[in-house]
Amino acid sequence: MPGLVIVGAQWGDEGKGKVTDLLAEKADLIVRFQGGNNAGHTIVRDGEEFKFHLIPSGILYTGKTCAIGNGVVLDPRILLEEIDGLRRRGVDMSNLRISANAHLIMPYHVLLDTAGELKLGKLSLGTTRRGIGPCYADKALRLGIRVQDLLDEKILRTKIRTALEPKQQALRELSVQRRKLRKEAGEGDREAAGQAIGSSPDPRLDLHTMTEEHLSYGHRLEPHIADTARLCWDALDAGRTAIFEGAQATLLDLDHGTYPFVTSSNPIAGAATIGAGIGPADIDEVWGVAKAYATRVGAGPFPTELSDGAGRHMLERGHEYGTTTGRERRCGWIDLVALRYAVRINSMSALAITKLDVLSGIGPLKVAVRYRSREGALLDRFPYHQSILHGATPEYEELPGFDAEIGDCREPSDLPAEARAFLDYVAEFVGVPVRLVGVGPGREQVVWLA
Ligand code: IMP
Repeated sequence: MPGLVIVGAQWGDEGKGKVTDLLAEKADLIVRFQGGNNAGHTIVRDGEEFKFHLIPSGILYTGKTCAIGNGVVLDPRILLEEIDGLRRRGVDMSNLRISANAHLIMPYHVLLDTAGELKLGKLSLGTTRRGIGPCYADKALRLGIRVQDLLDEKILRTKIRTALEPKQQALRELSVQRRKLRKEAGEGDREAAGQAIGSSPDPRLDLHTMTEEHLSYGHRLEPHIADTARLCWDALDAGRTAIFEGAQATLLDLDHGTYPFVTSSNPIAGAATIGAGIGPADIDEVWGVAKAYATRVGAGPFPTELSDGAGRHMLERGHEYGTTTGRERRCGWIDLVALRYAVRINSMSALAITKLDVLSGIGPLKVAVRYRSREGALLDRFPYHQSILHGATPEYEELPGFDAEIGDCREPSDLPAEARAFLDYVAEFVGVPVRLVGVGPGREQVVWLA
């Protein structure tokens, strides 16, 4: 497996971090290829908990190179906090590499993200408000500021000045609507609304302050800045194993997800080529990670969403609260129509099914196998048309459940027959083998399948 891509197969939070962590044991290089600190995962190592937002969790292994690819958008302040936090806990950061071409999330991106969401009101997307969308928008507009710009004061100042002007205007326009927004914003949003569109000039938007601050970030990040695409080529050409780690997931893909309720990058496997700088032929395997059920944070269609006791069970037993924002996740049965779509669009070669233990005690288990449209038509394929998807209701196959606790299972034969039958059904339906099953939060709580 010299070139292995790991992607989320649902709406995110599938447990990619744990799967990447396990597969990274056999890899030499681990590269993040898109997204930013909208992602987050927790790794438990020897009883110690580590939270990651930008740095590949492979950094916990000694001697492995971990890279933040050019497709990532990174907030340098958050990245430095993450580096400092890990260093304080004794983690060696000398193998961290950051692409000189990655784009920076600037303070105005964060303000615009929040202000934009508040302006949308009931139509808001439920973004993580980390500035992801505005940063990728600036990249496409060619107003972006890249990691390499941090190393040249003149370039940095000029680029910030050019990028800042339209932002100040946009934020000024939004501040005209400030009173209305404040009135409309819920209790929890009032403070954010005030911060995003405050009446006095925001010190974070001062050209001089921002330039100085970012020069100091550049100074600190400089030892890590590198040509990360070349690192990938060198590793792959020497026959070493590289893992390309996606953030978010297939159904949040900007082009192929449930637009507009998506993130602003492409989390599907094909995007590893662009976000890391490799060619399509460098990808040998694609692993998709899916929960044994489904969750979604933020707004947007979710055909199998539950509002009953089973959904509550998934939320509580699965601790379905966001690592990044702490938001409660929406929960539902596994959607095999959507999963088969994810298998195809990612050219998936294997699946890792996580959190199977959460399904214990809520049998019979349901799996969505087709949708019915508002007009009554049966749909076997994931609809590309937004209105059809919004009106689709799932039709389920019922499978026998299991009540036994499976957290101690380590071999396929340890699993209850019903759990194995559930996994077989999923694999058969979507057409790829399940190679790894998560049976609990611990790193060792997994079952490898042949
Ligand atoms: P953004 O990526 O912050 O712009 O948010 C866009 C949408 O993607 C929102 O619905 C978010 O809740 C969702 N999203 C972004 N990152 C993640 C993630 O890591 N896990 C799950 N959902 C995410």
